[in-house]
Amino acid sequence: MRQSSLVVVANRLPLDDNAAPDGACEWRRSPGGLASALHAILEQTPATWVGWGGGVGPAPALPDIGTLRLRPMSLTEDELRGYYEGFANSTLWPLYHDAVEQPVFDRGWWEAYRKVNRRFAEAAAEVAEPGAAVWVQDYHLQLVPQLLRELRPDLLIGFFMHVPFPPPELFMQLPRRGELIRGMLGADLVGFQREQAAHNFAQLAGKLLGAEGADDAIHFDGRIVHTGAFPVSIDVAEMESLSARPYVRNQARQLRRDLGAHKKVLLSVDRLDYTKGIEHRLTAYSELLRDGRVKLRDMVMVQVAVPSRERVGNYRGLRERIEGEVGRINGEYGRVGEPAIHYLNQPFDRADLAALYQTADVMVVTPLRDGMNLVAKEYVAARGDDTGALVLSEFAGAAAELSDAFLVNPHDVDGLKETLLRALDADPADLARRMAAMRAHITDHDIHAWARAYLTALDHTGGLARHLPRQ
Ligand code: ADP
Ligand code: F6P
Repeated sequence: MRQSSLVVVANRLPLDDNAAPDGACEWRRSPGGLASALHAILEQTPATWVGWGGGVGPAPALPDIGTLRLRPMSLTEDELRGYYEGFANSTLWPLYHDAVEQPVFDRGWWEAYRKVNRRFAEAAAEVAEPGAAVWVQDYHLQLVPQLLRELRPDLLIGFFMHVPFPPPELFMQLPRRGELIRGMLGADLVGFQREQAAHNFAQLAGKLLGAEGADDAIHFDGRIVHTGAFPVSIDVAEMESLSARPYVRNQARQLRRDLGAHKKVLLSVDRLDYTKGIEHRLTAYSELLRDGRVKLRDMVMVQVAVPSRERVGNYRGLRERIEGEVGRINGEYGRVGEPAIHYLNQPFDRADLAALYQTADVMVVTPLRDGMNLVAKEYVAARGDDTGALVLSEFAGAAAELSDAFLVNPHDVDGLKETLLRALDADPADLARRMAAMRAHITDHDIHAWARAYLTALDHTGGLARHLPRQ
């Protein structure tokens, strides 16, 4: 097995489920923020990505993608249930997102989570060359930093949490809370989307494990573990250049004609996830139609909701509720050949997403809680002409950076309705000012700046941590 000086370890490879069952790499990006972000930086970097390719059973051999090697991991049916659908996505995911759905604590899932984390750590240890940097991603793999340190003390180990990291009052509900924090403390640098998350982590490390220090440097087990906020971003140049392509522009024009040339288009693009606030948004739109504050002849909504985690009960239930509600809205307010809402439960390629973004007068991004939300940034990058309005939840990490969006509390349906109307009626000069300010921000803070900031910080901390005497 060839070794790399940079290894990324993430639950998922940047390939769509079953995209390459025979090993012939059909390069389709997995929907989801993590894959979008890391794909952009790794396709030009000599590195190895350790991750799961979707599905159960033996992992298919996958060819390199440019300079990026893929090291596929297999999951058995039991592991898929216990580790991915269970502990990661039915316990940690809802708990980390403000418990907007009730987290499930099933004692049987922990063993699978631990076992899979160990296998990922072993695979990373195998493909990392001496002294390599290993960058572990997200809540699926919180135990990997510590396990990897035991296997390979020579490595520089980073961990980045893409999702929110909750306050102690919530985190303390977790049955395996101490082990999860200890696992993350195996890293030299633990990165989060927001400062508040780093603060929560430092508090928990003190409370649960007696670790000392400040928010940005925790003393534990004779080492210093650095922490910090590194808000993730997108490949701005890629989205800009996609948006300038004639194909995309034509596609956007065609979409506009199909939707009704004189109508204002509201667009939402999400994984079909209960954290994304899709139901609240549909309620707001349907009440605006009901009260005659928006009219079918002036308005149309497009909701893209790409399937996600479909075997998990909560997600199946959500899909049924959303599809029922979309049917009800179209049944009550639509006309033949003129629906009030277009619902698309399918993946799109990047060019088609760019065309959709260009078609939208108002982009509605209203998660109940979100670590960052890259869709909001993609919309801004696609609006090179400074038109369009972004309605953005205060509870998305992106709100801290995109303060020129129309910020909204998505739990407050009346407030959401008023904000949608404000965005729809805004003066074009005001919209242009807001959009230009947001684009300037993301241009300076793109995905390459993110990776550089994180890896530079990791490099510095590594030197420090390794030269400290062990207690
Ligand atoms: P999350 O990580 O929770 O899925 P983000 O908004 O941060 O949320 O990231 C979602 C990513 O998935 C974005 O890069 C977006 O372009 C992509 N995406 C969303 N919907 C689709 C879709 N229908 N087809 C393909 N990619 C999608
Ligand atoms: O950012 C949260 C996250 O779990 C990422 O790890 C991933 O990009 C995305 O959501 C999609 O989720 P899944 O890999 O479960 O389809």
